[in-house]
Amino acid sequence: MNPGGYAVTVAGPAGGAAVWVDAAYLLSAVLFIAGLKGLSHPRSAVRGNLLGALGMLLAIVVTLVDQQVMDWIWIVAGVAAGSVVGAVLALTIKMTAMPQLVGLFNGFGGAASILVAGAVLIQIFGVGLGGAETGELQITIATVASGLVGAVTFFGSLIAFGKLQGIVTEKPVRYPGEQIVKILLLAAALFVGVLIVLDPSQVSYYWILVAIASVLGIFLVIPIGGADMPIVIALLNSYSGIAAAATGFVLSNTILVIAGSLVGASGIILTQIMCRAMNRSLANVLFGGVGAVIEDASQGDVYAGKVTSTSAEEVAMILKSAQRVVLVPGYGMAVARAQTAVRQLTEALERDGIEVEFGIHPVAGRMPGHMNVLLAEENISYDKLREMDQINPTFANTDVAIVLGANDVVNPVAREASGSPIAGMPILDVDKARTVVIIKRSLSPGFAGIANPLFAADNTLMFFGDGKVAMDQLVAAYRDA
Ligand code: TAP
Repeated sequence: MNPGGYAVTVAGPAGGAAVWVDAAYLLSAVLFIAGLKGLSHPRSAVRGNLLGALGMLLAIVVTLVDQQVMDWIWIVAGVAAGSVVGAVLALTIKMTAMPQLVGLFNGFGGAASILVAGAVLIQIFGVGLGGAETGELQITIATVASGLVGAVTFFGSLIAFGKLQGIVTEKPVRYPGEQIVKILLLAAALFVGVLIVLDPSQVSYYWILVAIASVLGIFLVIPIGGADMPIVIALLNSYSGIAAAATGFVLSNTILVIAGSLVGASGIILTQIMCRAMNRSLANVLFGGVGAVIEDASQGDVYAGKVTSTSAEEVAMILKSAQRVVLVPGYGMAVARAQTAVRQLTEALERDGIEVEFGIHPVAGRMPGHMNVLLAEENISYDKLREMDQINPTFANTDVAIVLGANDVVNPVAREASGSPIAGMPILDVDKARTVVIIKRSLSPGFAGIANPLFAADNTLMFFGDGKVAMDQLVAAYRDA
């Protein structure tokens, strides 16, 4: 028994768990995988979330019973406190602040891995409570991995949160010898890790390892900035899964290994998808120092005398004679919270027999699925949401493309092979529509910081204004037209 009054057993690699425990863990794993599958489509996402949560509840209860953790008061108090904080955050968080909330959750996962692995190290080798009759090497190596990856995740995520929240500078912080500093920190952490494996009774080494890895986490994330942050958050999500899987090996807990591996794998797949949609390599995101909004000197030349402004009344008239309209939402729709007005316009157009669809770019907004979530909240049918490959061939037959607060994802400069931060990024071909209406407040660039020649195109009308105000005006003007 430990000083806390409950039994702690760390099984050897063979585990030795009862068959019913393995069977329950297997069921949890199936629920996790079914949950992930459900999350792949908006229609099944809520069910997927519930299945995943059910799998986690089963895994927790089975572990508590199997490990005879009977100190229920602390467990219930912890669950209650966590539930209250989680519910308040989930209910109050703005959609635009989702990336940093996810970042914070990843960080907590990393911190939990550090603490659990450290506690096991202290328990077995520090105060000599034993429990690792076999598999000592597995436990020490896994503990080192948990501490290292967990600390990188925790401090990296705190920096990512600080950047997105405006507490730490959003710009990439570069300095000479940056890569060498990171390599030296990693080498130092690995060296201390080897010392721990050789002599695990020196528990203080573990905290030295955690301290070095924490600095490494800060140095890995601080040179990244701007809209590259969501990619880093997906990557840190993957790291938090790897740290959890390592902790699973520390505890010889199969379901923690499985859950951690699923998070690690899905995080890295998401990172890949985001990089591909931005035509960037992961190395470029991590070491390139791109991502700051760059002042674009050429804007004057691109727009001079070529921009045509419009009004709600004029756009309403054009819409009245349209047969097909495609709405392209972007980051500005999320910031302006204009999605309700978008639904109202969609309904008004459809009442007049006009076909309406939405063109969703994979990296529109600031997080994966950002636009889908906002439009789904308005009960806009999923059948109207078209992915880039589906909607692009239809622009040639589209009378009006309304671009609401999107910029980079419709910038034709991306079609050029090189010379701009978005070169080669696949875009939505709105410029092929008969008329393009762009709703935004000014000619300011988007995240990539470059001018957009679409704003000066012959078939483009600029409707300047806040996304929500402009859409409300447009809905009213269309109803009156
Ligand atoms: P952006 O290119 O960032 O452009 C958004 C535009 O919204 C701005 O030009 C801004 O113009 C306008 N805007 C801001 N507030 C507004 C408001 N209240 N009302 C109306 N308009 C407003 O957005 P995008 O086209 O959605 O592209 C997303 C960018 O983020 C891409 O570069 C992408 O690579 C990057 N990114 C996305 C992700 C994911 S997963 N989505 C991840 C990493 C990076 P004004 O200031 O003139 O209004």
